[in-house]
Amino acid sequence: MPPNFHQTFMSFLSEIKRRRTFGIISHPDAGKTTLTEKLLLYGGAIQEAGAVKNNKIKKGATSDFMEIERQRGISVATSVLAFIYKDKKINILDTPGHKDFAEDTFRTLTAVDSVIVVIDVAKGVEEQTEKLVEVCRMRNIPMIVFINKLDREGKDAFDLLDEVEQKLGLRVSPMSFPIGMGYDFKGIYNIWEKKLNLFSGENKQTVSEGIEFNDVNDPQLDTIVGEKAATVLREELELVYEVYPSFNSEEYLNGTLQPVFFGSALNNFGVQELLDCFIEIAPSPRPKEAEERTVDASEEKMTGFVFKIHANMDPKHRDRLAFVKIVSGMFKRNEPYLHVRQQKKLKFSSPNAFFAEKKEIVDVSYPGDIVGLHDTGNFKIGDTLTAGEVLNFRGIPSFSPEHFRYVNNADPLKSKQLYKGLDQLMDEGVAQLFTLEINGRKVIGTVGALQYEVIQYRLAHEYGAKCTYENLNVHKACWVEATDPKNSEFAEFKRVKQRFLARDKQNKLVFFADSAFTIQMTQSKYPSVKLHFTSEF
Ligand code: G4P
Repeated sequence: MPPNFHQTFMSFLSEIKRRRTFGIISHPDAGKTTLTEKLLLYGGAIQEAGAVKNNKIKKGATSDFMEIERQRGISVATSVLAFIYKDKKINILDTPGHKDFAEDTFRTLTAVDSVIVVIDVAKGVEEQTEKLVEVCRMRNIPMIVFINKLDREGKDAFDLLDEVEQKLGLRVSPMSFPIGMGYDFKGIYNIWEKKLNLFSGENKQTVSEGIEFNDVNDPQLDTIVGEKAATVLREELELVYEVYPSFNSEEYLNGTLQPVFFGSALNNFGVQELLDCFIEIAPSPRPKEAEERTVDASEEKMTGFVFKIHANMDPKHRDRLAFVKIVSGMFKRNEPYLHVRQQKKLKFSSPNAFFAEKKEIVDVSYPGDIVGLHDTGNFKIGDTLTAGEVLNFRGIPSFSPEHFRYVNNADPLKSKQLYKGLDQLMDEGVAQLFTLEINGRKVIGTVGALQYEVIQYRLAHEYGAKCTYENLNVHKACWVEATDPKNSEFAEFKRVKQRFLARDKQNKLVFFADSAFTIQMTQSKYPSVKLHFTSEF
């Protein structure tokens, strides 16, 4: 082995080891945006708060199309927020909290190596958090929980930990514990670093330096926080040590133990402790399963996959930005890579890397990084790129949409534009398109009603096409698996249910069930025909 090869390989490994690629998930309003901003401030990536804030889809923005467009523009910039903190390269992948964009978030979760879950101390575990955590749990993604807004009156810390365990199915290990709450909130005891972090000043805007405190029985504690608070803290910590497992890196990394922090993102309290612990314990890029084999980040040859596609904001330029997560090897500018689905080699002369709020053309990216590739329609979400090997990364399934509508062409002279537009919007993952078996009519399925307006608006503005919708009563789209395709039961199922059968974009057979009862009845009548709620089973 030539000596400089060894050196290059060692520096490649250290680049991988210093990367932390993660997402922050929460129910809207729990404080994801505020926390993201505070993390960026610590990384020196932004100079003032408020920079990321505008990315949020505002409540009631449903019919304000300019607002949607504006958000779309900003969300390109904040799709990946990267910064360096204590020599670690941190990539935060944006996960929209708005439930109409939940599918976007599910897909982004295929590209993260860990997540931070933000919970509002007063509201506790909310619906959207439950759904997103379930996806992370199914994939054994390491999770850290941050309980936010401790400056407000909220639920009792133990009740909250119970709720997190029960509703989210997690096994928690408190890494810090609050001293008081709301009006009486004095600070936190950092179990991880054995330090006391206290608010100073009346307004709870300033935080004192952490005070080393190896033993909470030290009478000094009474002097610092007051006798009453010290006694309560001692009792509570005793209970914490007794009831909850202590932190174990292996269990955290395999998704069976979740460390919990308390703090207040708005007041910058507990955020640095979270970040300092995060860079220590959170995983660098993890191995990823492909249909053919598992790929390790340290492999020399480049592999990666597309998890997000963003249309260009300028309608005159039809190109799009495909976001690729690098799984292994180095991604190099102008190097030919195999687009596995299309079986063709592509070169990229201007791959973008993301920094705080801007993107820049880069020559080399490492595993864990996200590169943005200009695309004229080659990519779909889920596509794999490699240095030549035929590999297909798994784990970007379609979920059953919640809403279904027929789509009609409202301008017969523009049908080509309509179908092209629909095709490209579906590749971007805005919604799912189904074709009914019986008459070829097109049905659009979405997670939220907002998408129908986005589609109509974008078809008109970017493709010059017009569409109208018609309601369709579907409860769930079920992907059909015939366990024995040759038996007469499957033929009978197809004959009886022909009016409710459709094909998705991959030409997979889908059954439109009008109620949960229908699904149950169909399953018991045709036991060899399995119905699935996601396209990957
Ligand atoms: P999201 O991205 O999860 O939807 O939440 P976001 O950070 O936007 O926070 C939602 C609201 O909660 C914001 O208030 C924000 O200022 C507030 N918030 C976040 N962290 C804390 C905290 O630690 N303590 C307190 N008391 N509030 C917090 P808003 O009034 O909706 O927005 P804004 O007008 O302040 O921007």
